[in-house]
Amino acid sequence: MHLLVFDSGIGGLGVVREIRRLQPHARITYLADNGFFPYGEKPDAVLLPHIVKLIGGAIGVFKPDAVVVACNTASTIALVALRAVYAVPFVGCVPPIKPAAAASKSKVIGILATAATVRRVYLQDLIEKFAPECEIHSLGTPTLAELAEQKFRGFPVDVASAVAPLFMQPGAERIDAVALGCTHYTFLHPEFQALYPHIAWFDPALPVAKRTLAVTQDLAPAHGGYAGTAWFTAPLPDFDVMQARLAEFGFYEVRQGLPAAYTSRRIF
Ligand code: DGL
Repeated sequence: MHLLVFDSGIGGLGVVREIRRLQPHARITYLADNGFFPYGEKPDAVLLPHIVKLIGGAIGVFKPDAVVVACNTASTIALVALRAVYAVPFVGCVPPIKPAAAASKSKVIGILATAATVRRVYLQDLIEKFAPECEIHSLGTPTLAELAEQKFRGFPVDVASAVAPLFMQPGAERIDAVALGCTHYTFLHPEFQALYPHIAWFDPALPVAKRTLAVTQDLAPAHGGYAGTAWFTAPLPDFDVMQARLAEFGFYEVRQGLPAAYTSRRIF
């Protein structure tokens, strides 16, 4: 079974780690659109056609059995269009509002995400469906995804000033659960926990991996799985560092740019 896992950068690797635990024999191709990072700061009208075209091209070249869109920003904007255009099964990623609302005793919950995800109607629908009884405080931040990229590369990061505005909103001092609405934040989870230990932080990586298992469990396991290739849409200035880090996620081959077949392929 061959999965294509997609994100704008390193965020989806948290999902990959959980998929590897649940499905150790899955073959995984990782596609990171670092050439267009950060998604969270780009307008919907630009992101939608870009994502549909990029993932469509990747489906044509890599021929995965299923695609995991391990990016909240991409999922909330493009999943409906992707499912309408391509026949392959898709697993999306949404902020874990449901478990955060269920766990909250104060019924005041926080959502931390990219600016693009926070402004989505999709998010409002999730809130109405899964947290109608909750008071919601959300923060769309431009900096956390970049800090996650830096931490991944071994740089020390300080998330305090980026997160603090969430708790400065009137009434937000009663927040006791926060849904992390960006896969990059998986890598900052320890920092959030250390800063606000009384709060339950909900990460989307494991739920997405569980959903992937449910969607793909009837597909045949790949032989000699685990290893796979990570593709980055743009050159990595810190290739050696990234190569070492990606090996920890089972990617022993790291490629920059896109396969030749990809650029010559007609997507629609
Ligand atoms: N990892 C992506 C997400 O889950 C977004 C990061 C970005 O490109 O802004 O939303």
